[in-house]
Amino acid sequence: MRLSARARNLTPSPTMAIDAKSKQMLADGVDVVNFSVGEPDFDTPESIKAAGIAAIQQGKTKYTPAAGTLELRKAICEKLARENGLQYTPDQIVVSNGGKQSLYNAYQVLLDPGEEVIIQAPYWVSYPEIVRLAGGVPVVVETDESTGFRMTADMIREKLTTRTRVINLNSPSNPTGAVLSRKELAEIAALAVERDLIIVTDEIYERLLYDGAEHVSIATFGEEVRKRTITVNGLSKAYSMTGWRIGYTASERIFAKAMGDLQSQSTSGPSSISQAAAVEALRGTQEPVEQMRQEFDRRRRHMMTRLNSLPGFSVKVAPEGAFYLFPNVSGLFGQTIAGRRITSSDDLAEVILERAHVAVVPGTGFGAPNYIRFSYATSMERIDEGLDRIARLLAEG
Ligand SMILES: Cc1ncc(COP(=O)(O)O)c(C=O)c1O
Repeated sequence: MRLSARARNLTPSPTMAIDAKSKQMLADGVDVVNFSVGEPDFDTPESIKAAGIAAIQQGKTKYTPAAGTLELRKAICEKLARENGLQYTPDQIVVSNGGKQSLYNAYQVLLDPGEEVIIQAPYWVSYPEIVRLAGGVPVVVETDESTGFRMTADMIREKLTTRTRVINLNSPSNPTGAVLSRKELAEIAALAVERDLIIVTDEIYERLLYDGAEHVSIATFGEEVRKRTITVNGLSKAYSMTGWRIGYTASERIFAKAMGDLQSQSTSGPSSISQAAAVEALRGTQEPVEQMRQEFDRRRRHMMTRLNSLPGFSVKVAPEGAFYLFPNVSGLFGQTIAGRRITSSDDLAEVILERAHVAVVPGTGFGAPNYIRFSYATSMERIDEGLDRIARLLAEG
């Protein structure tokens, strides 16, 4: 049996793989503390769940337009105007099965074979694969603590070639929590206009901000920028709705039409029930979002302090968004832990899972092999339990 080259070359999501492994250990009766998750641990707010249940009872259980219901696309336009200062009409919105499909659609309609996409590392694991699946070539801009894990216009400029088509942005960032400033974004926007590039901006963590950080949508920097930008967002993270699978894009009509058409021949529209719930999420009370943010903030500060006290772990840049910490663990390379010589973050993550029963994600999949990602989308008690276990493991030597 032979698979296509596309399938053979595909790397499965390492974060989902670790999550699956730790869930399997849990099912086998092992008490795993899971810091690998990319989803809030909170339940979906009641009013949103009620809207989903009402949708079922009202018979909203049929196909919707491929690009999403008009009502949801209107609610998204209202949200973009209210929160982001962006003016769009419903025919510029495409609702998909999560922000992941929105990104997939975007790159499918943007790229021809061999066209290059600028991606900053550390990056969310799926960007390079989604670009490759569209025939594109990821071109990575490395960043580290010295620039606060932020990519600047000058760093991008050095990587531009005649084949560059897209600058991919993710602010706040998964995995670093870095937030690009208004000035940094303005410079990147100006570069995109100067070099006639498209911007794909993944703003899915925009509501989870700390220490007074400000989220700015790059599409707000004037008409020239807006027309070359595809803004990607979704409800998974802000509303704790990961399983409902609702994401969306806002863009020029030419892109929106192409993405809607693509979706009409692939998945059709997302679940009618989830779309009804999403309308309530966007139009209803925003109180739960703020409550979750405050709890994340408390955990972020606590976990950062504790991580920095672990030998060999260093979080030099406080994340300003999302719900991850990304300590540098290269100080442990060459050392022996639980009888095993540690040469990489993969080794370290494996020892931590096997010997301390704590699931973390090595930085390799994020294009940052000196780091490990810790999600704080779990309770304070579990954070302390997991870090106590790692501390004991490291003390064993
Ligand atoms: C940076 C980033 N973008 C997009 C997504 C996709 O989320 P979803 O498909 O649930 O909307 C994720 C999920 O982990 C993410 O971390």
